[in-house]
Amino acid sequence: MAIETRFTKAFGVKHPIVQGGMQWVGYAEMVAPVANAGALGFLTALTQPTPELLAKEIARTKEMTDKPFGVNLTILPAIKPPPYAEYRQAIIEGGVKIVETAGYKPQEHVDHFKQHGIKVIHKCTAVRHALSAERMGVDAISIDGFECAGHPGEDDIPGLILIPAAANKVKIPMLASGGFADGRGLVAALALGADGVNMGTRFCVTQEAPIHEAFKRRMVENDERQTQLIFRTLHNTARVMKNAVSTEVAAIEARGGAKFEDVQHLVAGVRGRQAMTEGDPDGGIWSAGQVQGLIDDIPTVQELVDRIIADAESIIKTRLANMVG
Ligand SMILES: Cc1cc2nc3c(=O)[nH]c(=O)nc-3n(C[C@H](O)[C@H](O)[C@H](O)COP(=O)(O)O)c2cc1C
Repeated sequence: MAIETRFTKAFGVKHPIVQGGMQWVGYAEMVAPVANAGALGFLTALTQPTPELLAKEIARTKEMTDKPFGVNLTILPAIKPPPYAEYRQAIIEGGVKIVETAGYKPQEHVDHFKQHGIKVIHKCTAVRHALSAERMGVDAISIDGFECAGHPGEDDIPGLILIPAAANKVKIPMLASGGFADGRGLVAALALGADGVNMGTRFCVTQEAPIHEAFKRRMVENDERQTQLIFRTLHNTARVMKNAVSTEVAAIEARGGAKFEDVQHLVAGVRGRQAMTEGDPDGGIWSAGQVQGLIDDIPTVQELVDRIIADAESIIKTRLANMVG
C-alpha cells in the first residue's frame, strides 16, 4: 500500500501524512509512533523549557524510532523571546533533518537550517505568506485553513478555497492542513492540489497521544460545532475547544475593549496544564479543531495511519475510478 507524492519523495517518508507541532503534545511518545507508522511527526521545541531538554528529547525519540522525524519551531510574537538560536543549535546538533517553522518572519531560522542541510516546511495561513516563505528558500509549505486548531490567522479562508488558491501559485510541495482526519480528507487534499495532509487534533485522539483520557473522550463526544475563536479582538485569533473557560474569554472579548491582561488569568499556560494533569476538560484553554466532528474513536497511531491510507486508496481506485467514463 502506498500513495506516492512529491512530498513523500522529497522528504523520504512512506505516507503523505504529517503530525504538526503541538504544544504540550509533541513529545517523543507522540512523534515516535507516528514515525514508526510511516508518517512524519514533529516534536515541539518550545514544549521543552530549555534547549538542553530539547536535545534530550531528540535523543529519546531516536531511541524509540529509526525513521525520520522533525522538530517544530514556533515563532511567537514576544517581548522577551525564547533563546531561538540555542533551540536551533540543539536541533542541528541533534542531527534532525526536517524542521517545521510556524509564525512570522522565519527568515533567520530558515537561513540557519538551510546552511546545515536541514529541510524546512513552513506552516502558514495565507497564500501571500506561503509565497514569501517559498522565496525564502523553504522546501515545502503547510497551509492551514480556517478550520484548523490553534492559529488560523485573520483572513478566515476555509481550506476548500485556501488549498487550491495556494496550489495555483506555490511551486514547491505543499501540505493541506486543518480539518483532516480520514482517507476522504486525504483524497480531497490531493485533488485540491496538495501533496499530503498535516493533522493536529486527529493525532491528539489516539492511544499514544500523551494527553489525559478525559480530553480524548471529550473530543470524541464533541461535534464540529464545539470550537471557539478567542483572541479575535487582539488580532491573534486562536481556535480552541469550546468549554467553560473559552466561553468566559469570548464573553469578556464581546464586551469590547478587552486587553490581554483581562483574560490572562483564564488563558494562562499553567492553568491549561493543570487542567490536563487533573483531567478536567473545562479547566483551561485547549487547542482543538472543527474536525472533532469527524473523530469517533481512539485508535493507535498505526491503526489510524493504516486506515487513512487504505481508505484513500479504495476511494481513488474504486469509488472515483468507477465514476469516470
Ligand atoms: C493541542 C494543539 C497544540 C498545537 N500547538 C501548536 C504549536 O505549538 N505550534 C504550531 O505551529 N502549531 C500548533 N498546533 C497546530 C497544529 O500543528 C496543526 O497545524 C493544526 O492542528 C491542524 O488543524 P487540525 O487540528 O484541524 O488538524 C496545535 C494544535 C493542537 C491541536
